[in-house]
Amino acid sequence: MRESEEFKQSGYTAQKQIVFGAIVKMYLHIWPGIFSRYPNWAKQYCLYIDLNSGPGRYDDDEIGSPLVFLEAISKTRLEYHAMLYESNQKDAPSLIENVRAYRAYADVYAEDNANVLYRLTKRNERQYGMVYADPSNAQLPVKVLDGSA
Ligand SMILES: C[S@@+](CC[C@H](N)C(=O)[O-])C[C@H]1O[C@@H](n2cnc3c(N)ncnc32)[C@H](O)[C@@H]1O
Repeated sequence: MRESEEFKQSGYTAQKQIVFGAIVKMYLHIWPGIFSRYPNWAKQYCLYIDLNSGPGRYDDDEIGSPLVFLEAISKTRLEYHAMLYESNQKDAPSLIENVRAYRAYADVYAEDNANVLYRLTKRNERQYGMVYADPSNAQLPVKVLDGSA
Protein backbone atom coordinates (compact mmCIF):
# COMPACT_ATOMS: atom_id res chain seq x y z
CA MET A 1 0.00 0.00 0.00
CA ARG A 2 1.29 3.47 -0.83
CA GLU A 3 2.06 5.71 2.08
CA SER A 4 -0.61 8.17 0.91
CA GLU A 5 -3.33 5.56 1.44
CA GLU A 6 -2.28 4.87 5.02
CA PHE A 7 -2.35 8.39 6.46
CA LYS A 8 -4.81 9.09 9.26
CA GLN A 9 -4.88 12.07 11.58
CA SER A 10 -3.51 11.05 14.97
CA GLY A 11 -3.69 12.33 18.53
CA TYR A 12 -0.38 14.07 17.92
CA THR A 13 -1.59 16.13 14.95
CA ALA A 14 -2.75 19.11 17.00
CA GLN A 15 0.58 19.32 18.85
CA LYS A 16 2.45 18.93 15.57
CA GLN A 17 0.61 21.92 14.10
CA ILE A 18 1.39 24.05 17.16
CA VAL A 19 5.11 23.28 16.84
CA PHE A 20 5.05 23.80 13.06
CA GLY A 21 3.21 27.11 13.53
CA ALA A 22 5.90 28.24 15.97
CA ILE A 23 8.65 27.39 13.46
CA VAL A 24 6.81 29.27 10.69
CA LYS A 25 6.41 32.32 12.94
CA MET A 26 10.12 32.22 13.76
CA TYR A 27 10.94 32.37 10.02
CA LEU A 28 8.42 35.15 9.45
CA HIS A 29 10.28 37.06 12.13
CA ILE A 30 13.78 36.57 10.68
CA TRP A 31 13.08 36.80 6.91
CA PRO A 32 12.66 40.62 6.84
CA GLY A 33 16.09 40.98 8.46
CA ILE A 34 17.67 38.61 5.93
CA PHE A 35 16.00 40.47 3.05
CA SER A 36 17.39 43.80 4.13
CA ARG A 37 20.83 42.37 4.89
CA TYR A 38 21.20 40.56 1.56
CA PRO A 39 18.96 42.52 -0.84
CA ASN A 40 20.57 41.19 -4.01
CA TRP A 41 21.06 37.54 -3.12
CA ALA A 42 17.60 36.48 -4.24
CA LYS A 43 14.14 37.80 -4.96
CA GLN A 44 12.57 39.46 -1.96
CA TYR A 45 9.85 36.95 -1.34
CA CYS A 46 9.41 33.65 0.47
CA LEU A 47 8.87 30.38 -1.31
CA TYR A 48 7.14 27.72 0.78
CA ILE A 49 7.29 24.15 -0.46
CA ASP A 50 5.08 21.62 1.32
CA LEU A 51 6.09 18.14 0.19
CA ASN A 52 3.28 16.39 2.10
CA SER A 53 0.38 18.81 2.25
CA GLY A 54 -2.53 16.58 3.20
CA PRO A 55 -6.10 17.87 2.69
CA GLY A 56 -5.46 21.28 4.29
CA ARG A 57 -8.30 21.01 6.76
CA TYR A 58 -9.67 18.07 8.76
CA ASP A 59 -13.18 16.97 9.76
CA ASP A 60 -12.84 18.62 13.18
CA ASP A 61 -11.90 21.85 11.33
CA GLU A 62 -8.29 21.62 12.48
CA ILE A 63 -6.01 23.13 9.85
CA GLY A 64 -3.06 21.34 8.26
CA SER A 65 0.41 22.60 7.39
CA PRO A 66 -0.49 24.50 4.17
CA LEU A 67 -3.04 26.65 6.01
CA VAL A 68 -0.79 27.00 9.06
CA PHE A 69 1.75 28.63 6.74
CA LEU A 70 -0.68 30.59 4.53
CA GLU A 71 -2.70 32.03 7.41
CA ALA A 72 0.44 33.10 9.27
CA ILE A 73 2.29 34.72 6.36
CA SER A 74 -0.81 36.47 5.04
CA LYS A 75 -0.89 38.45 8.29
CA THR A 76 2.54 39.91 7.46
CA ARG A 77 3.63 42.25 4.70
CA LEU A 78 5.93 39.63 3.17
CA GLU A 79 5.46 38.55 -0.42
CA TYR A 80 5.23 34.81 -0.84
CA HIS A 81 4.33 31.86 -2.96
CA ALA A 82 3.47 28.32 -1.91
CA MET A 83 3.99 25.08 -3.83
CA LEU A 84 1.77 22.44 -2.25
CA TYR A 85 2.30 18.76 -3.09
CA GLU A 86 -0.26 16.08 -2.33
CA SER A 87 -0.16 12.81 -4.25
CA ASN A 88 -3.32 11.27 -2.80
CA GLN A 89 -5.99 11.83 -5.46
CA LYS A 90 -8.71 12.00 -2.79
CA ASP A 91 -6.98 14.61 -0.63
CA ALA A 92 -5.72 16.83 -3.46
CA PRO A 93 -9.20 18.17 -4.46
CA SER A 94 -9.93 18.95 -0.78
CA LEU A 95 -6.63 20.78 -0.57
CA ILE A 96 -7.46 22.88 -3.63
CA GLU A 97 -10.81 23.78 -2.07
CA ASN A 98 -9.33 24.51 1.35
CA VAL A 99 -6.65 26.90 0.07
CA ARG A 100 -9.00 28.59 -2.42
CA ALA A 101 -8.76 31.92 -0.59
CA TYR A 102 -5.02 31.93 -1.32
CA ARG A 103 -5.30 30.89 -4.96
CA ALA A 104 -3.18 33.81 -6.17
CA TYR A 105 -0.36 32.80 -3.87
CA ALA A 106 -0.50 29.01 -3.83
CA ASP A 107 -0.28 26.26 -6.43
CA VAL A 108 -1.49 22.75 -5.63
CA TYR A 109 0.30 19.88 -7.38
CA ALA A 110 -1.65 16.63 -7.19
CA GLU A 111 1.44 14.59 -7.89
CA ASP A 112 4.54 13.01 -6.39
CA ASN A 113 6.69 15.54 -4.55
CA ALA A 114 9.80 14.34 -6.43
CA ASN A 115 8.56 16.54 -9.29
CA VAL A 116 9.47 19.62 -7.31
CA LEU A 117 13.08 19.16 -8.37
CA TYR A 118 12.14 19.51 -12.03
CA ARG A 119 10.00 22.58 -11.32
CA LEU A 120 12.74 24.26 -9.27
CA THR A 121 15.30 23.57 -12.00
CA LYS A 122 12.94 25.22 -14.49
CA ARG A 123 12.65 28.29 -12.26
CA ASN A 124 16.43 28.44 -12.05
CA GLU A 125 16.58 31.27 -9.52
CA ARG A 126 17.77 31.73 -5.99
CA GLN A 127 14.97 31.77 -3.50
CA TYR A 128 14.47 32.40 0.19
CA GLY A 129 12.02 30.07 1.83
CA MET A 130 11.34 26.81 3.52
CA VAL A 131 10.71 23.20 2.50
CA TYR A 132 8.47 21.18 4.82
CA ALA A 133 8.46 17.37 4.72
CA ASP A 134 5.82 15.67 6.84
CA PRO A 135 5.51 12.10 5.56
CA SER A 136 3.28 9.78 7.53
CA ASN A 137 6.00 7.18 7.83
CA ALA A 138 9.63 7.39 8.94
CA GLN A 139 11.03 7.77 5.43
CA LEU A 140 12.02 11.33 4.72
CA PRO A 141 12.36 12.22 1.01
CA VAL A 142 16.06 12.90 1.47
CA LYS A 143 16.92 13.31 -2.23
CA VAL A 144 14.08 15.78 -2.72
CA LEU A 145 15.07 17.76 0.37
CA ASP A 146 18.71 17.79 -0.68
CA GLY A 147 17.89 18.86 -4.24
CA SER A 148 15.56 21.67 -3.19
CA ALA A 149 17.82 23.08 -0.45
C1 LIG B 1 1.28 13.21 7.53
S1 LIG B 1 0.36 13.60 6.10
C2 LIG B 1 0.63 15.32 5.90
C3 LIG B 1 -0.11 16.13 6.88
C4 LIG B 1 0.00 17.61 6.60
N1 LIG B 1 1.39 18.05 6.51
C5 LIG B 1 -0.73 18.38 7.66
O1 LIG B 1 -0.08 19.12 8.40
O2 LIG B 1 -1.94 18.27 7.72
C6 LIG B 1 1.35 13.00 4.78
C7 LIG B 1 0.75 13.30 3.41
O3 LIG B 1 1.77 13.11 2.44
C8 LIG B 1 1.15 12.63 1.26
N2 LIG B 1 2.21 11.99 0.48
C9 LIG B 1 2.84 10.83 0.74
N3 LIG B 1 3.80 10.58 -0.15
C10 LIG B 1 3.80 11.65 -1.03
C11 LIG B 1 4.57 11.98 -2.18
N4 LIG B 1 5.55 11.17 -2.60
N5 LIG B 1 4.30 13.13 -2.81
C12 LIG B 1 3.30 13.94 -2.37
N6 LIG B 1 2.53 13.68 -1.28
C13 LIG B 1 2.77 12.55 -0.62
C14 LIG B 1 0.10 11.66 1.80
O4 LIG B 1 -0.92 11.42 0.86
C15 LIG B 1 -0.40 12.38 3.04
O5 LIG B 1 -1.53 13.16 2.75
